Amino acid sequence: MAFPNRNRKVVLARRPNGMPVEDDFRLVDDPVPEAGPGELLVRAHYLSADPFQRMRLDAGSGYGKTLDIGDVVKGRMVGEVVQSNHPKYETGDFVEGMLGWQTYAVSDGSIERAEYAPGITKVDADIAPVSAYLGILGFPGVTAYFALLEVCDPQPGETVVVTGAGGAVGSLAGQLAKIRGCRVIGIAGSDEKLDHVTGELGFDGGINYRSSPDLLADLRRLCPDRVNVHFDNVGGDIAHTILHHLARDARIVLVGNISQNNLPETPFRPDVTGLLMTARAMTKGFIVYDYEDRADEARKAIAGWLAEGKIRYRETIADGIDQAPAAFISMLQGGNIGKQLIRLDDI
Ligand SMILES: NC(=O)c1ccc[n+]([C@@H]2O[C@H](COP(=O)([O-])OP(=O)(O)OC[C@H]3O[C@@H](n4cnc5c(N)ncnc54)[C@H](OP(=O)(O)O)[C@@H]3O)[C@@H](O)[C@H]2O)c1
Repeated sequence: MAFPNRNRKVVLARRPNGMPVEDDFRLVDDPVPEAGPGELLVRAHYLSADPFQRMRLDAGSGYGKTLDIGDVVKGRMVGEVVQSNHPKYETGDFVEGMLGWQTYAVSDGSIERAEYAPGITKVDADIAPVSAYLGILGFPGVTAYFALLEVCDPQPGETVVVTGAGGAVGSLAGQLAKIRGCRVIGIAGSDEKLDHVTGELGFDGGINYRSSPDLLADLRRLCPDRVNVHFDNVGGDIAHTILHHLARDARIVLVGNISQNNLPETPFRPDVTGLLMTARAMTKGFIVYDYEDRADEARKAIAGWLAEGKIRYRETIADGIDQAPAAFISMLQGGNIGKQLIRLDDI
């Protein structure tokens, strides 16, 4: 099979200072690589823009290796196998993996994912469009599934508050809580997102954290029985405010702290241990790769609910690899509803 002799890559041009700008990235063309013995070559159809990528751009991070200047930006792709010397893959198969922001990638077929390793997973385009494997059937979906259902174990009638509610992880976490019979309140940064989650997705209420004059007052109004489960996607001041309205035996799962990721320094915050103690609250940090061995369990359950029409998902799609940095920056600033993707039709 003949390929265009051009692999387009997005590389890190310099480290961002706070919120990234497009000049922090550079587009580079290289020849398309060849799959060596035991390897396969993947042609990307979609790239994913994920919050974790921001942390990988800094010189240091608490978890996983960061990038060097000139490295291809670490990121997930879903694509088609176009050349295979690997016994488990044939041309025409689709895979999802941490293969970087580029139009072609060689994989050795590894399935290792922890610490953002470039493992791949074969995906089934008969179950859902392949783009779904970067969102609802991908690691965001697996995150929502285990962080909510297993860590927090919400019970019917309990109140669940989800932050980052209009995004990939949050919009599914809220729907899973609804399936469990909970009252679900979403917090997000635009009225459009709140209309989406309370309208299309069936959340019971929403708060726009950007326009709310008093987040705690809004929480008290919408959660009269306080908060049993806090699915924390954003950290920072929003997370701290919710701690003031916990129910007894509340569960808090720390999934993300995107509100802090573009700050040059972590601001000092008042001590909250008393609030946690009084509520007898349990707080657990969550990293999806601790569940990578069980990802199929989540995918199967989510695919079942999708087929039954019990859950829905949205994608926000930018076109062309040259748009990847802009799509990423837009996502970091709240421009996405559901999963932010970059489609590569014309490569
Ligand atoms: N622990 C894990 O294993 C794991 C795995 C996957 C994802 N995550 C985390 O889960 C969170 C959601 O990820 P996602 O992929 O679903 O992203 P997403 O929610 O689809 O997109 C990110 C969203 O974050 C919100 N945001 C940005 N700055 C904010 C701020 N200062 N305060 C509050 N919200 C802010 C924006 O929405 P608004 O319009 O609402 O501001 C933006 O749309 C992220 O924190 C991510 O790092 C963790």
